[in-house]
Amino acid sequence: MKILAIESSCDETSAAVIADSKALSNLISSQYFHSKFGGVVPELASRAHLEAISEIVEDALKLANLTINDIDALAVTSAPGLVGSLIVGSNFAKGLSLKYNLPLVPVNHIEGHLYSGCLQDSSVKFPFISLVVSGGHTIIFDVKSYNEYLILGLTKDDAAGEAFDKTAKMLGLPYPGGPQIDKLAKNANPSAYTFPRSMINSGDYNFSFSGLKTSVRYFIAKYFSDGIPEVMLANIAASVQEAIVDVLVKKSIDAVVNLGYKTLIVSGGVSANSRLRSKMRSACGEHKFKFVAPELSLCMDNAAMIGFIAEKKLLSDNQNFHDLTFTVNPTSIRLRKNQ
Ligand code: KG4
Ligand code: ZN
Repeated sequence: MKILAIESSCDETSAAVIADSKALSNLISSQYFHSKFGGVVPELASRAHLEAISEIVEDALKLANLTINDIDALAVTSAPGLVGSLIVGSNFAKGLSLKYNLPLVPVNHIEGHLYSGCLQDSSVKFPFISLVVSGGHTIIFDVKSYNEYLILGLTKDDAAGEAFDKTAKMLGLPYPGGPQIDKLAKNANPSAYTFPRSMINSGDYNFSFSGLKTSVRYFIAKYFSDGIPEVMLANIAASVQEAIVDVLVKKSIDAVVNLGYKTLIVSGGVSANSRLRSKMRSACGEHKFKFVAPELSLCMDNAAMIGFIAEKKLLSDNQNFHDLTFTVNPTSIRLRKNQ
C-alpha cells in the first residue's frame, strides 16, 4: 500500500510517501522567517503553507518515483496545531481525495510523534514507554499497540519546548530557542548554575516547566540586569538545558522501570536535543533498556510519521476513510484540573 501524507500543523509544510511502513520520501519545508518575530505568527504560517504545499506534494511523489495514480490512500494531520495551518493541509488533502477518489485518513499529530520511533526502527516491540516532547506537548505514554496507549503523565503548564524557547528569548537568542540553547551549551558547564527541577520527586509522571522560566527571569534580573556577558551565556544555557533534561530523563526512566518494560522511545522536536539524547541513552544503557530516538527529520514535524500511523489505521480500522466531513481541531493535550 502506498500512502501520500501531508503535515502542516505549525510552521513546517511536509509531504511524504509511505509504502509498507517505510518512507520513500519525506520532504520538509521550514518557515524560518518567523524567527524575526520571536515566534510563529499564525496568519503568516497559513499563507506560507498555501504557497508551499502544492510543490512539496509534487516533489515528494517525484522523489518516490511515483505519480498520484500510484497512490492508494492519503493521510493528513487534522489535530492539534494552529487552526489556519491545519485547514490548509486538510483542505488540500480533501481536494486530492475528491479528485482521485482516494481514502483520506485524518491523523492526530501527537500520535504521529508517538509512533515515529517505530518508523525509525522496525525492530521495536510493544509495549514501550514513549516520551513525546515538542513545542506544544510533554507527555509520557504507555504504548501497548498501534491502537492502544495511555497517558501516564503530562505537563501542568508549559511544554519542554516552550521552556527552551522562552528561556532562550530571555537570553537574547533567536526563535526557535531549543536548537540555539543546544548549540551554545555544547562546550559549556551544565553545573555552573542551579535552576529548579520542578516535580522531579513528585512520584508521578507529570511535569511543570513554568517555574523554571520564572527562575531564569529573576536570575537575569538579579545578576545580569545590564546584559549577559558572552562568556557566561553558554554556561547559563547549559545549566537551563540540564534542568529540563534531568526531569525528562528521570520521569521517563521511572516509567520504564515501574511498568517493567524494556524500551524507551523519545520523539518530538525537543528529542533532537543532543544532551537529552546522550543522557537518555546512558540511563537506558545502565538499565539495559532499548533506547530509540528517531533521526532529525523524523523528530521534527514531518509527514512520514503521519503516513506511517495512517497505514496502521487503514489496515486495522473498519472506518470509512472516504468520509470527508471531519474538521480540524487545534486543541492540545494539557493536564486538566481533575487529572
Ligand atoms: O515537534 P516540533 O517540531 O513542533 C511541535 O509539534 O511543537 O517541536 C518544536 C520544538 C520547539 O520548541 C523547538 O525549540 C524544539 O522543538 N527543539 C529543540 C531542539 N530542536 C527543536 N529543543 C531543544 N534542543 C533542540 N536541539
Ligand atoms: Zn510536533
